[in-house]
Amino acid sequence: MDRRKFLVTVGGMPSLGLSCLAAPTAAWSQADSRRERALVAYFSWSGNTRGMARQIHRKTGGDIFEIEPVPPYSRDYNTCLDEALRDQRAQARPAIRNRIENIGQYGVVFLGYPNWWATIPMPIASFLEGYDFSGKTIVPFCSHGGGRLGQSVTDIAKLSPRSRILEALSVHYGGGSSLPGDIDAWLQKTGMST
Ligand SMILES: Cc1cc2nc3c(=O)[nH]c(=O)nc-3n(C[C@H](O)[C@H](O)[C@H](O)COP(=O)(O)O)c2cc1C
Repeated sequence: MDRRKFLVTVGGMPSLGLSCLAAPTAAWSQADSRRERALVAYFSWSGNTRGMARQIHRKTGGDIFEIEPVPPYSRDYNTCLDEALRDQRAQARPAIRNRIENIGQYGVVFLGYPNWWATIPMPIASFLEGYDFSGKTIVPFCSHGGGRLGQSVTDIAKLSPRSRILEALSVHYGGGSSLPGDIDAWLQKTGMST
């Protein structure tokens, strides 16, 4: 893969990608789910996913949590590419700095990450394995450099087989000026708007 393909920029051309992995089950009503307290949990290396997470949190309320791997990935782009690939090949589970005390209070978890090597960064796997998400609703959102969601939603579903996974939002880099509207449309479509 050409490393230069994924120049880390903030605020590139926006592109909204919606993909539905698992349709909500008949037994579950979106309205029921939305009444539960929301958590926005995200990992971001260069800030794009963080920007999305903050906007989503402003609209959904609840709590926001940054997934911080320790040690952090290198700030050098090429070194980070190598570290990320190494972790993915090893299926590593990096340690996470902080911990959510009472995951039981959340019914809905908005889960944000950058597309790394066509899937989730391994700290997202650590996060998903670190708590019991059975019966919870996970709503993924992803910042990417052209590869949209890649395999990320499939991999999240494998790590959280007992969760409901709703349509993911994918945004090109920082999403640009249409990001607020794209988030609104996605929240509406997933039944998560307040
Ligand atoms: C280690 C690494 C791997 C990446 N792999 C991909 C990829 O496979 N596909 C893609 O579209 N973008 C890839 N990118 C680009 C990021 O997804 C993109 O820059 C994203 O906006 C970064 O989000 P962040 O600012 O929240 O870290 C990669 C970036 C890094 C640092």
